[in-house]
Amino acid sequence: MIKIIYSETAHDAGIRGAEVISEVLASKKNAVLGLATGSSPVGMYTELIRRYNAGEISFAEVKSVNLDEYVGLSADHDQSYAYFMHHNLFDHVDIKEENTNLPNGLAADPVAECARYDAVVASMGGVDIQVLGIGNNGHIGFNEPDTHFTKGTGLVNLTDSTIDANARFFEKREDVPTQALSMGVGQIMEADKILLLAMGRGKAEILERALFGDVTPSVPASILQFFKGEVIVSADKEALSVILEKHPEAVTR
Ligand code: GLP
Repeated sequence: MIKIIYSETAHDAGIRGAEVISEVLASKKNAVLGLATGSSPVGMYTELIRRYNAGEISFAEVKSVNLDEYVGLSADHDQSYAYFMHHNLFDHVDIKEENTNLPNGLAADPVAECARYDAVVASMGGVDIQVLGIGNNGHIGFNEPDTHFTKGTGLVNLTDSTIDANARFFEKREDVPTQALSMGVGQIMEADKILLLAMGRGKAEILERALFGDVTPSVPASILQFFKGEVIVSADKEALSVILEKHPEAVTR
């Protein structure tokens, strides 16, 4: 079941997202969180930090697994996803460093690193909630449009459109890594619940295609239509503009 929650602003959509995570933490203090990077979840992390500071939630017993990491960037590179997670969440809450997990983008043997990460994810005994953003081309994690859906963690060649989209975070386009390690679509689909965050007009077309179009590996996020549990989509009005036009009845205000 897909529940699409409307927010007027990206700020509000982030707060809605934090509410969903907080509910999971309230029912299970040792929850396993599947975490995502990108600009979409930043506001949600800010609200989670606020709730932590207000004493409303704790991450003391939480474990986390992140979706992906760039190949070739060290954890202290300011564009690595490890750095992002520390800067945007981990350093500001009581999560234990040893309970946080990301693929290692500097691993000498990326294939072995994928196997190690699959084992880490499996050892969690199930992800309670998986946070996702959506790429301009419909990617989830770094699972790019393809002829098949990926299963486990893999080494991915980034598409030109993803490199273009992410170039804004780097000094120059040539600095954007061309490969990443990413959890697979099959692995993402094993979570108990999914929270998809989408912000801004640039996501409006792809979000509609993903949630209402054909289920196809050429739009990896479309597989969410087959998710066994609840997919909660928290999005701002710009990201929802095409859905509001074509499927207004599907949107919860
Ligand atoms: C990145 C990440 C994804 C993210 C997506 C969208 O490439 N690998 O996990 O969801 O792009 O990012 P943004 O939220 O900044 O638009």
